[in-house]
Amino acid sequence: AGLVVLASGTGSLLRALIEAAADTAYPARIRAVGVDRDCAAADHAAAAGIPVVRIPVGDYPDRAAWDRSLAESVAGYGPDLVVCAGFMKLLGPTFLDRFGGRIINTHPALLPAFPGAHGVRDALAYGVRVTGSTVHLVDAGVDTGPILAQEAVPVRADDDEPTLHERIKIVERRLLVDVVAAVATRGIVSDGRKAVIPDERV
Ligand code: GRF
Repeated sequence: AGLVVLASGTGSLLRALIEAAADTAYPARIRAVGVDRDCAAADHAAAAGIPVVRIPVGDYPDRAAWDRSLAESVAGYGPDLVVCAGFMKLLGPTFLDRFGGRIINTHPALLPAFPGAHGVRDALAYGVRVTGSTVHLVDAGVDTGPILAQEAVPVRADDDEPTLHERIKIVERRLLVDVVAAVATRGIVSDGRKAVIPDERV
């Protein structure tokens, strides 16, 4: 399967996908990386010889124009799957119409708990003893799409946001790599709220 990965940050999730895809046995290849800003993820992609598409919101008169431009640019690479790996912008209606059902996101909390841009901080502030990682399909909401896989991560008494987030990221990297491979080989069967990867072992 051909992937386009969207990122905005340090790119540790992108690096995990790059490393996995370097193995010829892995059933997916990264065709391009899309970023909404200059970020370490873009640098990692460039270093790996992967085309980078840079679509900053500020270059466009409004979000709809940005969304259309991102959709056009991504479509140029003909992805089977779009993977949001720490992409910090909401995908709009044009993008969702074009790629809906084939957009996977990873979130550092056990959705539906703690959606949004500060899931790790919110879980810590709430005082939960267990949080985790969720891989889900993207829909029009904020981290509301059908869940594909989850894994729990314990919260330690002395955790702060960075230590907890790093522990979650260890799980997140493995879960995302595994789910992308599973979807690439077995697809997704979804009926409304539920999405299932056939013969799922994830
Ligand atoms: C990940 O934890 C992702 O779930 C969240 O932001 C983080 C991105 O990490 N949205 P990186 O940029 O891949 O290192």
